Amino acid sequence: MRDAGQNEAGSPGGKLGGSLGCDLILGIESSCDETAAAVVRSGGEVLSNVVASQMNLHANYGGVVPELASREHLRNVVPVVREAMAQAGVTLHEVDAIAVTEGPGLAGALLVGITYAKALSFGLGKPLIGVNHLEGHIHAVLMEARQSSGRAMELPLLALVVSGGHTHLYLAEQAGAVWRYRNVGRTVDDAAGEAYDKVAKLLGLGYPGGPWIDLLARRGDPQAVPFRFGPIKPRVSWEGGPVKNKKAPVRQEGPSFDFSFSGIKTAVLRYIETHGMREEIEARRRALAEHPEWRPGSDEATALCDARTLDLIASFQHAVVGNLLRQAFAAAEMFGAHGIVVSGGVAANSELRRRFQAEADRRGLPVAFPSLALSTDNAAMIAAAAWPKFVAGKFASETMGATPQLRLGGG
Ligand code: KG4
Ligand code: ZN
Repeated sequence: MRDAGQNEAGSPGGKLGGSLGCDLILGIESSCDETAAAVVRSGGEVLSNVVASQMNLHANYGGVVPELASREHLRNVVPVVREAMAQAGVTLHEVDAIAVTEGPGLAGALLVGITYAKALSFGLGKPLIGVNHLEGHIHAVLMEARQSSGRAMELPLLALVVSGGHTHLYLAEQAGAVWRYRNVGRTVDDAAGEAYDKVAKLLGLGYPGGPWIDLLARRGDPQAVPFRFGPIKPRVSWEGGPVKNKKAPVRQEGPSFDFSFSGIKTAVLRYIETHGMREEIEARRRALAEHPEWRPGSDEATALCDARTLDLIASFQHAVVGNLLRQAFAAAEMFGAHGIVVSGGVAANSELRRRFQAEADRRGLPVAFPSLALSTDNAAMIAAAAWPKFVAGKFASETMGATPQLRLGGG
């Protein structure tokens, strides 16, 4: 279990400018492979942020195993919540609401957090708030941007949520306390983080692949392999018909802001095969299996990659980041966004941060990222996203269940 970091203003006591009340929200997150709990005051002051990661458990399988994830959440949820309360220095009776991730995510994993949150809500007589995990990722950035500048970012904003399970572009606006999202772009196949993980696996690197590729890419030539992203067909939506289930297909007008990452994964595989890299990859896989202590970026792990592999990794990352950047800035321009926020696990990527910042500076557009502690899954983001709902009195019913495919916003 680790303390994922309190707010950068050094809380407790690092109160953010502009917060109104002093409502304490306990957030619980269990949608994938991290069991997390946090106490956040008024959507801005992180009193505690505790994460129990299962990464090492799933690393043995090269991906998240849903059954194991649920079992670990069951084991961890009570101690993680207790630790979050202890670090915040408040009791359960002092919190004003319990917020929990409702979806999207793994059904069994989500159910552990939801069931515990419902039990707490019922037992303590406190309102329950259901939060969309993707909205949580967006609010992690908004909360920290408010903390560092002392004021909220100007709306509407273009939010890029880019993680192991999602690659979405949202136009985010506020109507009173309530946030509204329009999903203006999404992946049609793999998520960007999934592409990182699959390419790392193809190359015999560790799991999750993002940190490995991020650190190794710095040592290769990003122009060595010219990967291309072709245009994506405009989306077809089903609407307009008079009778339910007999709707007419409507082709979307205008440019597409969707993504596709399965092609580049296949291109990497083809490159590996046509350049006879199999043997070297197997040797690397064996060496890393024998030395699970070798972290991404360590000299020993880096020495396992020759120049051609490093060039391939750098070129893959350069192409993926370039694609995310082009789509995000084009959408921001098209929809008149006053700023861009990037969140989700892939937002930890160093090349992505550097190139987004440079492009934003060039255009005079604000861009914000979460701190590394709030880039990956955590519960502070769930409590932060719950606060506007608390203010608006938007509470969940006691029948709330897990919604593995929960969507955020229309579009
Ligand atoms: O948001 P997250 O913790 O969990 C999901 O909701 O998926 O994101 C995990 C994803 C993984 O695919 C991982 O490889 C990727 O984020 N990731 C990175 C980096 N750190 C984590 N991808 C690129 N560069 C990184 N530095
Ligand atoms: Zn996530």
